Amino acid sequence: MSVLPPTRDDRVIWDLWTSVYHMPAVTVADELGTVAALSGQVMDTASLAAALRVDARALHIHLGVLAGLGMVERREGLWQATAVARTWLHPQAQGYYGPLIQRHGQRNALHEQLLETLRTGQKPDSHQSAVDEWERGEMPSGLAATITAYMNAHSRAAALAVADQPLFASVGSVLDVGGGSAIFSIELARAHAGLAATVMEIPAICAEADTYIAAAGVAAQVRTQAVNMFTEAWPTGYDAHFLSNIFHDWSDATCLLLARKSFEALPAGGHILLHEMLMDEDGCGPLTTACFSMLMLQGTRGRQYTLTELRGFLEAAGFVDVSSQTTGGGYYSLVSARKP
Ligand SMILES: C[S@@+](CC[C@H](N)C(=O)[O-])C[C@H]1O[C@@H](n2cnc3c(N)ncnc32)[C@H](O)[C@@H]1O
Repeated sequence: MSVLPPTRDDRVIWDLWTSVYHMPAVTVADELGTVAALSGQVMDTASLAAALRVDARALHIHLGVLAGLGMVERREGLWQATAVARTWLHPQAQGYYGPLIQRHGQRNALHEQLLETLRTGQKPDSHQSAVDEWERGEMPSGLAATITAYMNAHSRAAALAVADQPLFASVGSVLDVGGGSAIFSIELARAHAGLAATVMEIPAICAEADTYIAAAGVAAQVRTQAVNMFTEAWPTGYDAHFLSNIFHDWSDATCLLLARKSFEALPAGGHILLHEMLMDEDGCGPLTTACFSMLMLQGTRGRQYTLTELRGFLEAAGFVDVSSQTTGGGYYSLVSARKP
């Protein structure tokens, strides 16, 4: 038996990884009384948040996971419990699974973290993440190495699929904003001999990315540049800005700021390319994307956005011709727009 090379489609691993949120989503709904509140009446997210005394943004993300699991559905903006939930998850139903569900909740740290996030609207202190360091634009080297390796693993299949996209054949230079380990720039360089890429990152991650670039043997095409994407001017002269898994870390206001900074730095005719897992327009799935959004809720200021939401940020910044296509790399899409 020998090992096999990575493919473009790693959805089986994403489904496995993000399934850690399946039971906590249900145990927390049980503790909050979500199914009872949505049985016999329909509610929008804000009204349900008020009834359950939880944060509306966090609840919307939580409901997305419950919808992906088939426990709630959303019609014309209003949520209701499904027949499955009213049969097995309603405390007054004969078939109520409460005693089993409650034991799972008591044993699961993610249950407590999700409950805390729903009640406070803030990421729990007990959930380790780098968002504070990202906001400051600096990070210790040990943490940078760990996080870069983590992101490199989850982006490997996606990077191969991005490099296949025909649009890169006509792109000479790419600014890979928040490019992490440089995995996307490395695969773009391998697939397109004439393409040059710069990974724009915080200093400690640039140092990490330099080692990945050297190991891949693409230093003639890919380099790094330390720039704080929030507080410093972005380098100019690139045909395209590529942002993978960046908007999903940040609030609506910060996404708009990033779109504006990109618009400022691009030449007329330049493109912004957002590589993200898109939520369905009704916020009800796909399940794995909804669970990824839950991870963003726990560890960042953001969430997985819909195409309409991303279009809104891009058009508000002045971009035109917004379009989107799946890449074939796991659940990802590439959303592109042009500076007129
Ligand atoms: C979720 S990771 C995405 C990494 C990579 N693009 C991918 O998809 O695998 C977000 C990246 O944004 C970078 N980042 C966060 N804050 C930043 C800042 N203030 N300036 C520059 N880069 C930043 C992080 O270091 C991190 O590598």
